[in-house]
Order: sequence, then C-alpha cells, then structure tokens
Amino acid sequence: MDKRPLGVYIHWPYCISKCPYCDFNSYVGAEANRTKMREAYLKALESAFQDTPNHTLQTIFFGGGTPSLMPPELTRDLIEKAKSLWGQNHEIEITLEANPATVDQDRFLAFEKAGINRLSLGIQSLDENVLKFLGRRHSKEEALEAITLARGIFPRYSFDLIYAYKDQTLESWETMLRRGLELAGGHISLYQLTIEPGTAFYARTQRGEILNVQNDLGAELYEMTGEILKDEGYSGYEISNYAKAGHESQHNLIYWRYQDYVGIGPGAHGRYKNLEGQKMGTQSLRGPDAWIESVLHNGHGFQSTEKLSPQNQATEMIMMGLRLENGIDFNHFEAEVGTKLKDFLNPKKMEVLIAEGYLSSHEDTLKLHPKGRRNLNAILQYFL
Ligand SMILES: C[S@@+](CC[C@H](N)C(=O)[O-])C[C@H]1O[C@@H](n2cnc3c(N)ncnc32)[C@H](O)[C@@H]1O
Ligand code: SF4
Repeated sequence: MDKRPLGVYIHWPYCISKCPYCDFNSYVGAEANRTKMREAYLKALESAFQDTPNHTLQTIFFGGGTPSLMPPELTRDLIEKAKSLWGQNHEIEITLEANPATVDQDRFLAFEKAGINRLSLGIQSLDENVLKFLGRRHSKEEALEAITLARGIFPRYSFDLIYAYKDQTLESWETMLRRGLELAGGHISLYQLTIEPGTAFYARTQRGEILNVQNDLGAELYEMTGEILKDEGYSGYEISNYAKAGHESQHNLIYWRYQDYVGIGPGAHGRYKNLEGQKMGTQSLRGPDAWIESVLHNGHGFQSTEKLSPQNQATEMIMMGLRLENGIDFNHFEAEVGTKLKDFLNPKKMEVLIAEGYLSSHEDTLKLHPKGRRNLNAILQYFL
C-alpha cells in the first residue's frame, strides 16, 4: 500500500513587534532559552513520527510568528531530523515565512544552505503610508529589496499583500497589484484585511473607527483582483492564493485537501491518520515556555488530542475543501472520511445554493462558484 503523504508544520512564535491586525500566536520580547528550544523542537519531531511512521514526508513549512528570526542552523537541524525520521526519496517543498525587516543577503543564503527551497515574504504593501498604517517595521524599499534577494537566492518564492483597508480604492489597489505582479515569481497571496478580536485594530473599531472597506467595495476589489490575476496567467486556486500552473503551495494544499500534517511548536495544530487509520486532531499549548516544558517532560506539547468522528472530519473537510477552486472530489472525500459526501449535505439547502449560483455539484466534485467563494463564511454557516 502507498504511504500517506505528510506535511510537517513548524511554528516559530516570536516577532520583532506585534502588527495591529494580527491575531497569530506570536510574542515579542524575551525568547526562551535557545538550547532548550532546540531540544524541544527535535523531541517534538520524534514524537510526531511515532504517530505517523506510515507516512512519506512531502513538505515542511516554517510558519509563525516570524520564522526568519530562527537561527538558520536550527532550521537545518530540524530539516535533517525530519528527513532522517520519515526518510526522503524525492524532492520535498520546504518553505520559510520571512518578514522583510528581519532579513539580509547573508541570512537568506544561510537559510537556502540549510535546505529552505521556498520563501514566503510578508510584504503586505508597496505603499509607505499603508505600511505605517499596518504597523510594519520595514519600508517599501526594504520590502522591494527582500523580493529581489529572494528571487536571486531561492528556487521558489511568494509574497503576501493585504488589501481592502479603509480609504482603498479600486484604482489604488489595481496600481499596487500590477506592480506586485511585476515582482511576483509565480505565486502570490492576497488577503483582505480582517479585523480579528483581541488585536489593536479590533480595539480601535470597538471605539468606532472604521478600518476596512465598507459595503460592496470588498466584493468589487476581490472580483477585480481575480480578473487581473487571470489575465496575468494566475489562477485563484484558493480564496486568497493565486499561482501559475505548477507554483501552488504544496504544503497549504495539504491543509485544504484535508490530507495529513503534524504541528510542531507553540499553538501548532495537526491532523493526521495514525497507525490504526484513525484521524487525529492535535492542539499544542500556545505559550512558548509551557510548550517547551511540556515537550521536555512529557515528550509532547499537546494541550489536547482527539479522535475525530466522521462528522467532525466531514465538517472540517468541507470547510477546507470549499476554499479550493477545484472544490472537493467525491471519491477523495469518501476515501478520507469513509462515508459519501452527499450523506452530509442537506438536499434542500443544496438546491437553494445551486439555484442561487453559489455552488455546483457535479458527478465527481462539489465546488463554489466565484460568487460563493466571496461569501464562504455565510455559506458554511447556512449548510453546516
Ligand atoms: C505569519 S504572517 C507572515 C510572516 C511574517 N510574520 C510577516 O508578517 O512578515 C502571515 C500573513 O497573514 C496575513 N495576515 C495576518 N493577519 C491578517 C489580517 N487580520 N488580515 C489580513 N491578512 C492577515 C499577512 O499577510 C501575513 O503576511
Ligand atoms: S503579521 Fe507577521 S510579523 Fe506581524 S505580528 Fe503577525 S506574525 Fe508577527
């Protein structure tokens, strides 16, 4: 039997400052003891392997936080460790997220030497004022320089931009997007600003400020984005991710296809089938110190592990799969969950969504139309 593919997610929880829009599990200030951290990451990889020895390593993703703050030697050691545990019989995708304010040519070269073959840069904007509004610690020049360096050093690179913030117009976004596409290398992530509870932006909106675009402008911006990208040969393979053929993020596709991944590091979660074929859900402790201590004493840093019921799996797989342009393959769903996708869908509600042009359900796939993708959350609430 073929081994199941596996993604390894490694979370680095530190940042140089907290961006006012961001609710990721990240911390600013004193880092935990480096020696202990290294030991904990290596040990957590070992225990993840105990649960998934029947898998083939497909991708490694260093996310954060700001993993470009990691010592490159640590990324090298973790990559080598993962390869030695799961084995490696083919080229794997190894991504590192980087903040332009934390990198230079030497660090990039060191990461490349460590085994990173795909870089994902948090550019966010190519406008100095917007970078200030977003609380970024890098200038437009530094952002451009980071892209130029990444292009020259890594086989593949991508970057993130944020749009749909207050005062943005169709014209200003089109100009920035076109400039961004001149610099892009086959993959780009374009996120509409969301106001997340617990962030500084959230507190400002609670006081009455308006920080993102209003009314239908968000939908118009999204539509225009898709059209411009399509003209440039990029497909919106996921709601916020666009790629030329062959440049898709293999690691993120594992999440959206509901395939298996283990989560290493503070706050990281995992979803994988264990040796008994049971889909497991793991959630790691969020605090870096608590996570490290738990791994060093208990061998794992989990706050919870659960056996996911077919109902849980179906809900999660639908939520993830509908983000994809190609939607959910019925056969893949049945092979993963053990039940037919149709058994989880309410026929009356499906009819309404199809009649309204939100989604289509053909012989082998269920997928959202562009109108549905713009309203994903409302649709999921309606039928799940
Ligand atoms: C972990 S960060 C990327 C790496 C690095 N920490 C950085 O910021 O440069 C992940 C990405 O999520 C996006 N993001 C985070 N919070 C967001 C929000 N509230 N609205 C839109 N995009 C957001 C940003 O584009 C950010 O680059
Ligand atoms: S956007 Fe990136 S740099 Fe900013 S706080 Fe979030 S994880 Fe850290």
